[in-house]
Amino acid sequence: MESSLTQNHLLCKADERIILALDFQTKAEVMNCLASLENQVRYVKVGLELFYAEGSAIVSLLKEQGLKVFVDLKIHDIPNTAKGSMKSLAKHGADMVNLHVAGGLAMMEAAREGLEQGVSAGSKSPLLIGVTMLTSSSQQMMNEQILIPGRLDETVSHYASLACQAGLDGVVASPLEVPIIKQATRTDFLTVTPGIRTVGSAFGDQTRVTTPAKAFELGTDYIVIGRSITQAEEPAKVWADMMVSIREGK
Ligand code: C5P
Repeated sequence: MESSLTQNHLLCKADERIILALDFQTKAEVMNCLASLENQVRYVKVGLELFYAEGSAIVSLLKEQGLKVFVDLKIHDIPNTAKGSMKSLAKHGADMVNLHVAGGLAMMEAAREGLEQGVSAGSKSPLLIGVTMLTSSSQQMMNEQILIPGRLDETVSHYASLACQAGLDGVVASPLEVPIIKQATRTDFLTVTPGIRTVGSAFGDQTRVTTPAKAFELGTDYIVIGRSITQAEEPAKVWADMMVSIREGK
């Protein structure tokens, strides 16, 4: 089957749809990692680990390198605080930011408003993405620990509809859930999917997982990949092999 990466090539270039998770403690480790990848990466993700360690300066630094940056802080708070957080976050020039859909409709709407207020004149607003169920969560964990009854994919689909209703640009979910998300929302409602493992690499704490090629075949818009690349012995080779497997749809 022709992968959606080929079908949707007009959306943006293939390498701009692969987001590398920079889960490191220091700027030096980030720079080493990017150097080891030999300029193959176009889009990176700054999560809580790196943001707490290096502050917002790391976002500016990565932007200066010509990279697109997803700032993954997963905001989840009362509407007023979510709005203020997004207003502050908007000033750092990220291309994508996110929050937890579980914060509810009012929180998501307030966050959207805050983001728009915070963007400096003439700049584009970052994409605002809602986290559905973390890709480390299982059906059993959802039912027995956080007491959400029913099927996990139905919860993800419902969260995606809510995010769409709140005016968000898309959601974070497992690639396995992309078809039901597109069905519950719109084909152009974005899906950003972690839970990606190159063939043969360890799942670690992730449970709802697939390969990069399969994720694009399922119709995802962006994949997020971390340890399969960053912990590899030869990151540049694993990255290049991944690009071949995506192009060939294998
Ligand atoms: O190393 P790995 O490929 O598992 O990294 C996945 C990245 O995506 C991590 O930075 C993690 O915080 C992030 N993420 C996730 N699941 C979500 C949202 C973000 O794994 N639902």
